[in-house]
Amino acid sequence: MCGIVGYIGYSLAVPTVLNCLTALEYRGYDSAGIAYLDGGKLEIVKRVGKLENLSNYLKNKIIPSSCAIGHTRWATHGEPSMENAHPHTDKNKLVAVVHNGIIENYVDLKKALEKKGISFYSETDTEVFAKLFSENLFAKNPELNEYYAKYYAMHNTMHNTYKISKKRIIKALKHTISMCEGAFAVAIVIKGYEDTIFFAKHKSPLILGKCRDAFMLASDIPALLGYADKFYTVGDDELGYIEPEKATVFDLTLKPKKVKFKSVSIEPEQVMLGKFHHFMEKEIAEGADSVLNTLNRLEKTKALEKIPAQIFEGDFNLHITACGTALNAGLIAKYIIENQLRIPVDLDYASEFRYKKPLLSNKSICLFISQSGETADTISCAELAKSMGATLIAMTNVPATRLESICDYLIPTSAGPEIAVASTKAYLAQLSALYDFIVYVAKIRGNALEFDIDSVKNGVIKNNSVNYKLDLTELANLIKDYSSIYFIGRGLDYFLAVESALKLKEVSYIHCEALPAGELKHGSLALIKQDSIVIALLTQSELIEKMLNNIHEINSRGAKIILFSPFVELKQFVYKFISIPKVDDLLAPFSIIKPLQILAYETAIAKKLDPDKPRNLAKSVTVE
Ligand code: M6R
Repeated sequence: MCGIVGYIGYSLAVPTVLNCLTALEYRGYDSAGIAYLDGGKLEIVKRVGKLENLSNYLKNKIIPSSCAIGHTRWATHGEPSMENAHPHTDKNKLVAVVHNGIIENYVDLKKALEKKGISFYSETDTEVFAKLFSENLFAKNPELNEYYAKYYAMHNTMHNTYKISKKRIIKALKHTISMCEGAFAVAIVIKGYEDTIFFAKHKSPLILGKCRDAFMLASDIPALLGYADKFYTVGDDELGYIEPEKATVFDLTLKPKKVKFKSVSIEPEQVMLGKFHHFMEKEIAEGADSVLNTLNRLEKTKALEKIPAQIFEGDFNLHITACGTALNAGLIAKYIIENQLRIPVDLDYASEFRYKKPLLSNKSICLFISQSGETADTISCAELAKSMGATLIAMTNVPATRLESICDYLIPTSAGPEIAVASTKAYLAQLSALYDFIVYVAKIRGNALEFDIDSVKNGVIKNNSVNYKLDLTELANLIKDYSSIYFIGRGLDYFLAVESALKLKEVSYIHCEALPAGELKHGSLALIKQDSIVIALLTQSELIEKMLNNIHEINSRGAKIILFSPFVELKQFVYKFISIPKVDDLLAPFSIIKPLQILAYETAIAKKLDPDKPRNLAKSVTVE
């Protein structure tokens, strides 16, 4: 949800920032913009739409600046437009700000500034931040602001003698962030400071990167790969500045912090397309690796054993909270925990849990699942659960996130960077970590399970060797022009239908609805008519007969059923049959999801849509 980048060093800043923005486009693609300092001038260039519009505009332009900040936007305040695109600036265009997050009290701040005669050109909270910061910067002597502006207009460069000190800038920045509520990470360039980028962070992510001849900042580590080789995760309420050869960080009392830059184990290739056309395609192909890497890492690091066994020994209430695909992984976990461990599980959409007055106590164990660890809905639930005395476990894929910092324990997944907005390999990694968690709790409670981790690994390896491409390209062409598609399943298959429907609708813009197959006759069957498309999932041996009844009900309405199943004998009853490998019933999620993810991808391709950047969406949803 908005990505920010900054470069200060000895090379060309604009192409570097543009390159890094490419890796951040998953966070938003409503508009993109860059601000750079060049020979005393502060220039701002913005374009509405995807980053390529900005890149095309800047192509062939050599800009000899070595100080730039950039932004890719997911619109929260105001439509995607030139006015609302970042960077934003103050009245005399002395500062430029890029921002990721949301300033919740921006309306009050704006009103107060308007009372002082300050006008606004955009609907954004970021412009409010820029103007507030500028006001704070010149609070003691506003005439200096006007003087600078006039001097600049006459000489086209900044006045060096009366340059504002860094100390004063940091004080003004601290004052500004303490007036703002919400979550934000900002990067700021200031006229006259060609060698400095200022930053501040409150709840939204911000990383500093150390390069050979520069310092950089960005919303995540992958954006800086290939440039920086050491990283520092900026802590909450830290602020400071980067210069070509050093980074200076303060806490909120303006005490300097000792910062340690560390290497990370992400290779630049992990965030490159390589032989693939899209990240979604690449990440589906990496599904098996993400399961194996997650399970191997959990085994090696003994991450589960760090959660004290005693909390699972007596009575406790287990709550799973998440959003979107992460919640769908939780659906599978709830089913298996209740089925195998006989422990009841409450599962909630994070956006609902927060406001339902949840029944939590010090006997509650809350598991928060989030690929990004940044999702605002999930984070606010974790904060609430913490305040109510619950034990908190985070399951995250991105390292060192805010969710992780709030929770007591961490179950890391190791899918590697997931860039496509549609979550695919992270879902599989979450499933595998959840199964491992179940094995851990079963061991503590003495439950016998009908699966083990080796069979998860074997199942995934077996499934990985199947090539579905041909069948699914044909199928994608069959369904691509439909306006509505129904997914049905029973038991575990229903939860997989929910995830498959989400995936298909998200990237193809076809309305998809998942239903428990037995529920059709209670209302939704009224929608099924000649030639409707129904995608049926059937992996659970004991549900074959019941599911077959539902298939017959649909067939007799003339609909086309596409069945994903290992039971080839059912081929005769359906319009199209996609054969998947047979594994133990409880392990079916690992075998059936891949072809359904491929179907979603192929449908987007058949419709000539960009599967990596579905309209209106962003990868990390940092607003509630
Ligand atoms: O980063 P998170 O796992 O917390 O994100 C949760 C959802 O926003 C995410 O899974 C979303 O539903 C995906 N776009 C689905 O493909």
